[in-house]
Amino acid sequence: MRIIEAENYQTVSEAAASIIIDKVKTTPQLTLGLATGGTPVGTYEWLVKDHQKYDTSYEHVSTYNLDEYVGIHPSDQQSYHHYMDKYLFNHINIKRSHIHIPDGTAMDVQAEASRYEGLIHSINGVDLQLLGIGGNGHIGFNEPGTSFTKETHIATLARSTREANARFFSSMEKVPKQAITMGIQTILKSKEILLLASGEQKAGALLGLIRGDISEDCPVSVLRNHDHVTVIADHAALSLIK
Ligand code: F6R
Repeated sequence: MRIIEAENYQTVSEAAASIIIDKVKTTPQLTLGLATGGTPVGTYEWLVKDHQKYDTSYEHVSTYNLDEYVGIHPSDQQSYHHYMDKYLFNHINIKRSHIHIPDGTAMDVQAEASRYEGLIHSINGVDLQLLGIGGNGHIGFNEPGTSFTKETHIATLARSTREANARFFSSMEKVPKQAITMGIQTILKSKEILLLASGEQKAGALLGLIRGDISEDCPVSVLRNHDHVTVIADHAALSLIK
C-alpha cells in the first residue's frame, strides 16, 4: 500500500486528479470506478478544469459508480446520478452510454444489484477504483460487520453514516436507510484502488486501515489484502499515525 501524505484537502484532490488524468491518457479505454460524497468533489473539479484546459478526452472511458440510494430517483437532486452529472459528467466528453450507476428505483432492487455485479464481472473488475472512506471505516456502503465475501447488494446504512450524510438532505428523516452498493468482493476485483481521505474525522478509520487488524469490523482494512492500493490523505486524516 502506497501512502501519499498531502498538506490539505486541495492537495489531496490535486494529487488524485493527476493520477486519474495520467491513467486516462495512457489507457483511453479506461474503466473507472467512481465515488460520491464530499471527498471526491475537489478531484472532479480538477478533472473538469484539466479537460477544459488541455482537452483530456473521456470519449472511450467507461465509469462504474460504487453505489446509489434505494428509492431516490436519478432525477432527484439527492441522487448520486444527479451528483455525478453536476460535478463531472456534464462537463467532460464522456458518452452517456458509458456511464453506469445502480438504479435505486428499480422495481426489484435485488435483481438490479445482481445486474450491476454482472456488469462489473463482465469487465473483470474496473481498472481504477476511486474510494472515499466513512468515519466508521466503511467503503462504498459496506458498513462495519459486512462480510468481506459480499458482492453488489442492498446495504442498510449505519446510523452514523445517515447522520454524516444528513448534510445533503433537508432533514435526517429524508436520508435513505438503504443503498445498492458494490460489495467488498466487487471492490477488490479492481486492478488498482485510489482511496482519498481528508480531515480529522477520518483519522480513526485510517488508523484502522494502516495499523489495525484486517477485520470486518473495519471494512477498509480489507484493502491491505489488495496489491495495488494508493492512499492519498492529508495531515489531519493521518494525525493518529505516528
Ligand atoms: C460514496 C461512498 C461512501 C463515501 C464515504 C465518505 O459513493 O461510497 O463510502 O465515500 O461515506 O463520504 P464523504 O466523502 O462525504 O466523507
